[in-house]
Amino acid sequence: MEAQAEPPQSLRQRVFQVLEHGRRRDAASRTLDWLLVVLILADVAATVLHTVPEVAARHGGMLTVVDRLCVLVFAVEYAARLWVAPDHPLLRHHTATAARLRFAATPLMVIDALALLPLLLELLFPRQMLVLLTRLVRFLKLARYSPALATIGRLIARERRALLACVIIFTGALLAAAAAMMVVEGGAQPETLGDMPKAMWWAASMLAKIGGQEVVSPVTTLGRIIAAITVMVGIGCFALPVAIIGRGFYEEIRRRDFVVTFAMVARVPLFARLDAASIADLVGILRARTVPAGTTIIRKGERGDAMYLIASGRVEVESAAGKVCLDEGDFFGEIALLSREPRSATVTALRATDLLILDADDFLRLVDRLPDVGAKVHAVAKDRRPGAPRT
Ligand code: CMP
Repeated sequence: MEAQAEPPQSLRQRVFQVLEHGRRRDAASRTLDWLLVVLILADVAATVLHTVPEVAARHGGMLTVVDRLCVLVFAVEYAARLWVAPDHPLLRHHTATAARLRFAATPLMVIDALALLPLLLELLFPRQMLVLLTRLVRFLKLARYSPALATIGRLIARERRALLACVIIFTGALLAAAAAMMVVEGGAQPETLGDMPKAMWWAASMLAKIGGQEVVSPVTTLGRIIAAITVMVGIGCFALPVAIIGRGFYEEIRRRDFVVTFAMVARVPLFARLDAASIADLVGILRARTVPAGTTIIRKGERGDAMYLIASGRVEVESAAGKVCLDEGDFFGEIALLSREPRSATVTALRATDLLILDADDFLRLVDRLPDVGAKVHAVAKDRRPGAPRT
């Protein structure tokens, strides 16, 4: 077995792992997530119910208790996240105070701070309905627990060029339809289509709503033809971004069985000394796959197309030299990629195992770009190769 015993952790490091998902299959992490999600939903439900006068009159006291309890937990959660910030791999090089300040400015922490703000407002302006409704901002806290939401955010960032092209096409269609309609129908309907801003409003309504009762109907034949073309172009304009996001979402879901977090990659021993930017790159390129016990991950003699890191679980390597177990933090599948020879051994999951997968091209680029990682991988591969002296 190659895994090394984990160094002892301080309480703060452990709290960091629980809060920021440093480990896969961490029961404490999952329990805390569920608890917080239930509290967020309970608090939002209490806020919504509080706006119904009869419910507020009969159960107002209980709803307030629920709210105060939730806020208390959210406040402790916020303080705990700030406390552990210096253990974040991205912030380790800062002083504790600087790390906490930087962490407090991250989007999810800003949402957490906003979620606490309504309590202050309620103390200053009690019984104000508008202030009560500010509590609904707590719903945004769910963003932390929705991997799909994070995926969509990443997708929009990745596909921004294609999406910008959609915006340009939509704007072009809007201007063309508005100009054509103003020229053809402007004389007959000056009130609604007499100038470009009015005609653009008409075109936007047609493009977005595919026509409707309140949209001005053209009175000339040419105007009707333009309206029909505008509707068709509108359908295309909306289908395009939906298709772009939809395809990307599907690919991303196929790429990842579980969410790869920064903390998860940072604690892989092979990457322990990498800087934050390199780890962030890896978070983007690693695929994530969970395999059940008994799955053959690599078969001896096959062509190698990827290298694997064990995020959690255990595998057995069966080579000519015998059987070896690899555990959390170990990697395998590097020999075939480095030597461009067939796989030297068969690797099977001994229990349900979470794998981080680096495709061959990405692996070779990484080894090239990061000499430290390259040297470590080469050294391990040399030690493992058939014929290498057993240690
Ligand atoms: P590769 O040959 O690409 O595919 C099988 C993998 O099993 C191999 O890379 C190594 O990562 C791993 N492996 C082979 N022999 C050993 C060994 N003796 N000890 C640990 N891992 C090994």
